[in-house]
Amino acid sequence: MSEKLDIQPASGKLGILTPGMGAVSSTFMAGVEAIKQGLSLPIGSVTQMGHIRLGKRTEGRQPLIKNFVPLTELDDIVFGGWDIFEDNVYEAATNAGVLPQTLLDQLKEPLSAIKPMKAVFDQYYVKKLEGTHVKTGLTKMEQAEALMQDMENFKQERGCDRLVMVWCGSTEIFLRRSEVHESLEAFEEGLRKDDPAIAPSMIYAYAAIKMGVPYANGAPNLSADFPALEELSKQMQAPTCGKDFKTGQTLMKTILAPGFKARMLGMNGWFSTNILGNRDGEVLDDPESFKTKEESKLSVLDSILQPELYPDLYGNLYHKVRINYYPPRGDNKEGWDNIDIFGWCGMPMQIKVDFLCRDSILAAPIVLDLALFMDLAKRAGLGGIQEWMSFFFKSPVTPDGLQPEHDLFIQQKKLKNTLRWMMGEELITHLGREYYDE
Ligand SMILES: NC(=O)c1ccc[n+]([C@@H]2O[C@H](COP(=O)([O-])OP(=O)(O)OC[C@H]3O[C@@H](n4cnc5c(N)ncnc54)[C@H](O)[C@@H]3O)[C@@H](O)[C@H]2O)c1
Repeated sequence: MSEKLDIQPASGKLGILTPGMGAVSSTFMAGVEAIKQGLSLPIGSVTQMGHIRLGKRTEGRQPLIKNFVPLTELDDIVFGGWDIFEDNVYEAATNAGVLPQTLLDQLKEPLSAIKPMKAVFDQYYVKKLEGTHVKTGLTKMEQAEALMQDMENFKQERGCDRLVMVWCGSTEIFLRRSEVHESLEAFEEGLRKDDPAIAPSMIYAYAAIKMGVPYANGAPNLSADFPALEELSKQMQAPTCGKDFKTGQTLMKTILAPGFKARMLGMNGWFSTNILGNRDGEVLDDPESFKTKEESKLSVLDSILQPELYPDLYGNLYHKVRINYYPPRGDNKEGWDNIDIFGWCGMPMQIKVDFLCRDSILAAPIVLDLALFMDLAKRAGLGGIQEWMSFFFKSPVTPDGLQPEHDLFIQQKKLKNTLRWMMGEELITHLGREYYDE
């Protein structure tokens, strides 16, 4: 058994700040308010509904996760954020059309009080959006400083003891890591010189991490996942994780693919297509933003199936992902998957999945869990990349050279074992010999 980590108590208020207050963010905030008022249950949230087994199966110890690790209570959460539109969260949730209006109307008072701060934004990085609620006339370094001032003011005005930041902003264009991302010194110089390789999401990430505030990236774009900010996050003991919330079609992929592989079934094709009509869909209609998403979605199968290790089963896999913007559906996406698998004697079989999915309904509890776990990590003194958060992401961030783990069930074991490790409980290997020893 390991030593319990020295974890600071979750006393006082936790401010959860989201750059981007659109469908996901407003659904998250509205849901938490609904839960607080007893109008709903925290369905989909691991921190709120999940149990964790401790010790042997014969001991019957299975507490709720939130009773096992010291997490912030929902009543102690304060919401804030930034957006390029001035809509308060009640208006944003109404526009997003994810939750029923009757529910939103019951939450009108707390949601209307959450108003976005002026955003750091540049249309070069999100072509399809044009907003006016933005900070203007500043260099990128000054923008970062303005965000830090926003956070400081928020903390003071709202009486928060701690903050976390979860990026819920639009997907930015595809950017490759370049020299400016390679060291903190180069990155700070880039901020001062307005380097175009520094996108707004990186400025938010820098501002958070520089203040020692945990940062999670819910979008697939490059944001905090490069050496410069990794260096800063270790220095400032600011936990980071990402990226791209694992919802919808990719969630299904990471549930199904490990099953086929576990049974050594072959696969030669997986075709995925989606229609969705929300603002995210509109942003992804731009090829540059779609490329960011595509990279994130494509990496999953390769990493789960390991074609280099299993060339006979997965060496010829054809994997295609399509997203089509189709306004009539709004946030209610439909995702089709056609999976061509083969079995004994190479005989082909097909599986069709038609997922009538509500993306933001799947993403909202992830925002809550990330915020609460990242705050826990901070209080436990853990800085740098939190790979145990991979469970929540399509493209888990790892240090350079370390293969990410995509299998949902391995990710879940890792998450739970990390919680056991933090609390000085025995890790569970599932070997189980002890039940049969004489
Ligand atoms: N819904 C899901 O299941 C899901 C899954 C994985 C990833 N994501 C990602 O989460 C993000 C949010 O998704 P959504 O459905 O809420 O989209 P959305 O378009 O409804 O909301 C995004 C919001 O971000 C704002 N924004 C854009 N750039 C900004 C900036 N620089 N600063 C502040 N605000 C900014 C936009 O104005 C918009 O209100 C997207 O990047 C999306 O790809 C969503």
